[in-house]
Amino acid sequence: MTAEAALATSPHPAARRTDAEWWRQAAVYQIYPRSFADADGNGIGDLKGVADRVPYLRELGIDAVWLSPFYPSALADGGYDVDDYRDVDPKIGTLADFDAMAEALHAAGIKLIVDIVPNHTSDRHEWFKEALASPKGSPERDRYIFRDGLGPDGAQPPSDWTSGFGGPAWEPVGDGQWYHHFFAREQPDLNWRNPEVREDFLKTLRFWSDRGVDGFRVDVAHGLSKDLPEELPTQAELDAIPVDGNHPVWDRDDVHEIYAEWRQVFDEYDPPRIAVAEAWVASDRRPAYASPRGLGQAFNFDLLGARFDAAQFREIVAFNLELAARSGSSSTWVLSNHDVVRHATRYGLPPEPAEPREDGSLPAESDATQKTGTSWLLHRGREPELKAERGLRRARAATLFELALPGSAYIYQGEELGLHEVADIADEDRQDPTFFRSPGVSVGRDGCRVPLPWSAGGESLGFGGSAHIPQPEWFAEHSVEREDGDPDSTLSLYRRALALRGELRTEERLEWLETGDPQVLAFRRPNGWVNVTNFGEGPFPLPEPLRGEVLVGSVALEEEGTLPGEASVWLKA
Ligand code: GLC
Repeated sequence: MTAEAALATSPHPAARRTDAEWWRQAAVYQIYPRSFADADGNGIGDLKGVADRVPYLRELGIDAVWLSPFYPSALADGGYDVDDYRDVDPKIGTLADFDAMAEALHAAGIKLIVDIVPNHTSDRHEWFKEALASPKGSPERDRYIFRDGLGPDGAQPPSDWTSGFGGPAWEPVGDGQWYHHFFAREQPDLNWRNPEVREDFLKTLRFWSDRGVDGFRVDVAHGLSKDLPEELPTQAELDAIPVDGNHPVWDRDDVHEIYAEWRQVFDEYDPPRIAVAEAWVASDRRPAYASPRGLGQAFNFDLLGARFDAAQFREIVAFNLELAARSGSSSTWVLSNHDVVRHATRYGLPPEPAEPREDGSLPAESDATQKTGTSWLLHRGREPELKAERGLRRARAATLFELALPGSAYIYQGEELGLHEVADIADEDRQDPTFFRSPGVSVGRDGCRVPLPWSAGGESLGFGGSAHIPQPEWFAEHSVEREDGDPDSTLSLYRRALALRGELRTEERLEWLETGDPQVLAFRRPNGWVNVTNFGEGPFPLPEPLRGEVLVGSVALEEEGTLPGEASVWLKA
């Protein structure tokens, strides 16, 4: 069968997954709703915008959408500061719009995963307002983490802890008490030892499950359970405590009691609702989150943290397939999301020098990223170092490699257009709290959250009203309109690979093949198809066992049987 015929006969992904295991090898497309498509023209993307673009999503060939927060929010942290977990932000729609969007997705055979943010509420949440209006020691304050300040009048913070976004982690409320927030000041941390908090989230899970959502992406899943001692350690002491299940703040073993309760709710539905944990934990602690008795799946961010390097990629894949199997889950693969520099840009920048610790030593990559994953922010002054074309070439190769792997692949909106990070956003247009809380250090995450270019001209390139983060001129080149009919565009590459990917989902296995070149990786999937990826710069003549019909390639093969540098192909070998 020719590649065309294989494409034509492969059923639409939607047709294949009606069973409870649909998530295991799904291609999930992340929508950051405020930057996707703006149907009402107020400059902020909305749910109607998502519904209108369902034909685009269907043609892309994804199995599910993960919708980042769409709840009422002051947007102190892009919607991860939630005022009300059971409603829709009026700036982006209504509950009726949500239902219409879910229906449109489902009618196209696309599942819907919503983001849930249980570590903290926003400071505008009813509970937080009640906490501020209630005295010290009240049940209202017990839903959050309040502590007395130090000094005779409590004017000093309870400890020197710092927030993951920079600045202090304690905020005074004016009566000698302070509340804890690991993220922005507008995101007070909840107290998960409080039964009312636990009950209320079960209600929220049922609320959205009853509305037909298929699953949940769980924000900061490793942070909910906290056990702060009476006498708080200093930040340095806290950092020195091993994260082995008994750390006061991170990745505590007892967090899984919460997810065991959630699992009971998921299993009330048919098919059971699914969940995927955002848990920045040491790899060997990931299986607990991915356990079928817990959330069922956990993000593996290892590829996202790796350089474009054959040895690193191979090691990560082998290790994570084994790790996922250990929990009975399937692996997830992520190259980009709304928190990190887009992979086309990462691969076009020289590796970032690690920042030395105070004592001058260099942190291990995993230490720096464990808690928030923000170490891949674009630091000021790096823009001139970008080799944009090379970055995109490598990104296309890495994506083909990723989409050929067993497990589920997460695609972040805009990567299918080959978008780069937008580096030159004016300070006054920036929105991300990490920019404001770490002045002069990082430019924050707005560069991957610029509204999508749908057309090559017109106001906000077809996004809708005036884009809430301005789009650069070069976005037009990457617009859906430009890429749609171009067989060499990144959009065409994604569509083709996603359509073919259905054929790969026979079993979650791969077999490594010898290539004789340390810069070139090759693996075979159970249906016989082979992926070959050349991480080196020079061409790689494909040896006989690796020859065959090219199903899809990140570049055209220059001559029969030779894979150019920094390129990937799927072959019927
Ligand atoms: C997660 C989100 C990130 C957010 C943070 C606080 O890491 O992915 O965008 O800022 O949690 O909710």
